[in-house]
Amino acid sequence: MKPELGVCYYPEHWPEEMWVKDAVKMVQTGLTWVRIGEFSWSRMEPAPGDLQFGWLDRAVETLGKAGLKVVMGTPTATPPRWMLDKHPDMLAVDAQGNPRKFGSRRHYCFSHQGFIEECARIAGIMGERYGQNPYVAAWQIDNEYGCHDTTISYSAAALNAFRIWLADQYGTVEKLNSAWGNVFWSMEYSSFEQIELPNLTVTEPNPAHALAFKRFSSDQVAAFNKAQCDVLRKFTKTPLLHNYMGRVLDFDHYKVGEDLDIATWDSYPIGFLSDRLEADSEHKTVYLQQGDPDMQAFHHDLYRSVGRGRWWVMEQQPGPVNWAPYNPAPLPGMVRLWSLEAVAHGAEVVSYFRWRQAPMAQEQMHAGLLTPYNRAAPALSEVRQTADELAELGDVEQKQAQVAIVLDYASNWAWETQPQGGGFDYFQLVFSAYRSLRKAGLSVDFIPPDITPHGAYNLILAPGLAKLNDELVKRLTSVCNLGILGPRTGAITKDFQIPDRGRPGVDCLDCQVELVETLPPNISRAVQGGGAMQHWVERLSGSARDLLCFEDGTSALKEGGGLWYLAGNPDDALWDRVINLAAQNSGLTLHQMPEGLRRRETSDTVFLTNYNAHPVEWHGQIINGCDVAIIKPESHDPA
Ligand code: GAL
Repeated sequence: MKPELGVCYYPEHWPEEMWVKDAVKMVQTGLTWVRIGEFSWSRMEPAPGDLQFGWLDRAVETLGKAGLKVVMGTPTATPPRWMLDKHPDMLAVDAQGNPRKFGSRRHYCFSHQGFIEECARIAGIMGERYGQNPYVAAWQIDNEYGCHDTTISYSAAALNAFRIWLADQYGTVEKLNSAWGNVFWSMEYSSFEQIELPNLTVTEPNPAHALAFKRFSSDQVAAFNKAQCDVLRKFTKTPLLHNYMGRVLDFDHYKVGEDLDIATWDSYPIGFLSDRLEADSEHKTVYLQQGDPDMQAFHHDLYRSVGRGRWWVMEQQPGPVNWAPYNPAPLPGMVRLWSLEAVAHGAEVVSYFRWRQAPMAQEQMHAGLLTPYNRAAPALSEVRQTADELAELGDVEQKQAQVAIVLDYASNWAWETQPQGGGFDYFQLVFSAYRSLRKAGLSVDFIPPDITPHGAYNLILAPGLAKLNDELVKRLTSVCNLGILGPRTGAITKDFQIPDRGRPGVDCLDCQVELVETLPPNISRAVQGGGAMQHWVERLSGSARDLLCFEDGTSALKEGGGLWYLAGNPDDALWDRVINLAAQNSGLTLHQMPEGLRRRETSDTVFLTNYNAHPVEWHGQIINGCDVAIIKPESHDPA
């Protein structure tokens, strides 16, 4: 597969006479894809039924004739104002009961049937018009599901749909009462119509109720997406995709991905380090203008799994963004580094957001490849350089990693529902495991919680899987030499109760969780020999062998039946120890990486990305700051 570059473009923002010059310049920059349309409903249909596609026809033609392949976005993330007159109750409602009003974007509730039908209608109109257009080579459905906290809505439409969903899940209200344990605090219902959404309760709602609402809300996203896919499939055979986000776990991306052909995601490394990663201030200072060395790769690997091998970066940060608390510029070289790193992880396309900085409205402080005055922004020359390097690089083929991590969206919902202690977070647990594997020079795959990978792995980490069953354990142990579970594994049933068989409830591993403690951030439980557990600590009993113990002699890591169980949330030092031990026990070779240098292996190439601003040495080779070394087998690579 030959990786390509693209860009996000908004023809409706610019006079028509600029389009052809823009298209020519995109091609000169080495871009081959252009995404358009996703926010332009008010121009496609200025009034109900008044279809105005002439401008879009001409835009597609202009871009296509210049040699670009078009990704056509359905405009459903930005319904026009008239839509509200037609469907006044379509807005999402926040947990306080306030409508999330018109005037920005994503002002809709996933459960509003009338709006879903409007979306299917516009998707159908577009499909009919462009489904066979030779220049339209892919379709993006909507834009960034969940962005601006929009997965959950407490609207009347959501309430109605939730009751129907519950009736479908439980059959009778008696079964629901028993599954949820509603006898506790006399919360029993006598009909589904009595059940409200779990907001505005006096104190916390029943976690079973809250978790069911999260599962429902995730299903609504998948159904919303599917409604448009089903319509578009009638008109086109080109791939359908969606642009997911960084660290958004509130809907099941695997499930949404089942209806799509390609997973794409929007990568804003500097914004993410600033606004969605816990890290000490030194880390945030060192990587201020480069982004975290593992955050991008984590999502590349995750979305490769969500896309069943096919994935892109749909929006790549090209300069300062407008939405983080502080918005520094990338250091020279970083736009190229991020792009090549994505390619190393299997991106078919890296597309930049956006072509030209907008002079108006919300994102006028967000950089593009061109300034609002049409001059080259710093990233433009790096993109050109990247395009040249990709041409030289040729095919990049992925190979299965030796290590995989199971990422389970539903475990995140469970833990968010009942955190039991601040500071303990599912994403962070998984991310810290991932970071430790990458510090050891390993390439990593993600696999969905049903654990049906194609090949065998040396090591699979399934940290914090909230639900566990024999079938899953059987599959896990059959596809790897070693599986690592814990903490909080097998801790709940589907309906948020403590399982009868105890926790974690794995037959081949004689180990029971007797007690759970959560700890404030400044306290941790040291492990003999180095490292500690933080935030969440379990006291284990059982005959399974102790591999590591806390300083008081109690178990920190147990082993049995090809599985290990972690009795807490390891700090970085402990993760590194556990990965080292696991490597010895599962036949893995580690490559200890210098700080900020990361390694990714494809079928015949090793990519080394240096997130530091300064050079580092790797096996006698100097890699400059913000640079990438691409090592083919014939070149000198002792690693
Ligand atoms: C993304 C979004 C784009 C744009 C961009 C700015 O979240 O998909 O439309 O808003 O952020 O960084």
